[in-house]
Amino acid sequence: MAIFENITGEGKFTIPRHIAIILDGNGRWAKKRGLPRTAGHAAGAETFRKIATYCKNIGVNYLTVYAFSTENWSRPEEEVKTIMKLLDKYLHEAIATMERDHIKMRILGDVSVLSPSLREEIEETNRISSRYDGFQANICLNYGGRAEILQAARRYALDLAAGRATEDLSEKGFSSYLYSAGIPDPELLIRPGGEKRISNFLLWQCAYSEFYFSDVLWPDFTPEELDKAIAEFNRRDRRFGGVKNG
Ligand code: IPE
Ligand code: IPE
Ligand code: MG
Repeated sequence: MAIFENITGEGKFTIPRHIAIILDGNGRWAKKRGLPRTAGHAAGAETFRKIATYCKNIGVNYLTVYAFSTENWSRPEEEVKTIMKLLDKYLHEAIATMERDHIKMRILGDVSVLSPSLREEIEETNRISSRYDGFQANICLNYGGRAEILQAARRYALDLAAGRATEDLSEKGFSSYLYSAGIPDPELLIRPGGEKRISNFLLWQCAYSEFYFSDVLWPDFTPEELDKAIAEFNRRDRRFGGVKNG
């Protein structure tokens, strides 16, 4: 893990290798300003850009964000449409800057039901990403923790039946069937927006993550807020079921 002197001036901190964020509070941010909820999603996309750049600069290796859940399809059609359009625009622009900034990007979730243009962009980001090593942004899109575990179980069962896998499946082996295959578990999970729940995010991967909740709505989230979360992470005593200094 990288060491970084953070901008709050609190000293030197260990930077988590992998930070996960539930991007929440866009709708309430817009409502507070008398704007349509969709304006909050546009503002949230900008915040993502800023925070991703900041994470890259301070030495985070992986940033995983929850952008659209399997449950979010239940929102009004107009809102879903706008979110998909924003994602389309975001990915299109990201493709242009990824090469310049050497950013790897991966989409986690069931992308098979997304629009052809979104799927094309996802393929393109995968192609570009395969050329680089370094900071990686993971965007969870049509993602659900339960759906992820279920598709992993199904694929393992198929491999077992076909003789491509054996019965002695390990935790590491099972992880390789998840959307997040090859990505280490997040050390720190941040949820802005005031809610204190996991909302079907990274259920398997968060087994030992440190959780940090903030009342700041996602579009208002700043590098200083991230620093606060990292400072708090550094104060946590991670025991993994063991005994400290035992
Ligand atoms: C998060 O913001 C974005 C998505 C879930 C797509 P919300 O849209 O959930 O914003 P709030 O929670 O209603 O304020
Ligand atoms: C979680 O936020 C999902 C994403 C941020 C993509 P929600 O706003 O959907 O979560 P709930 O409904 O408050 O649990
Ligand atoms: Mg929400």
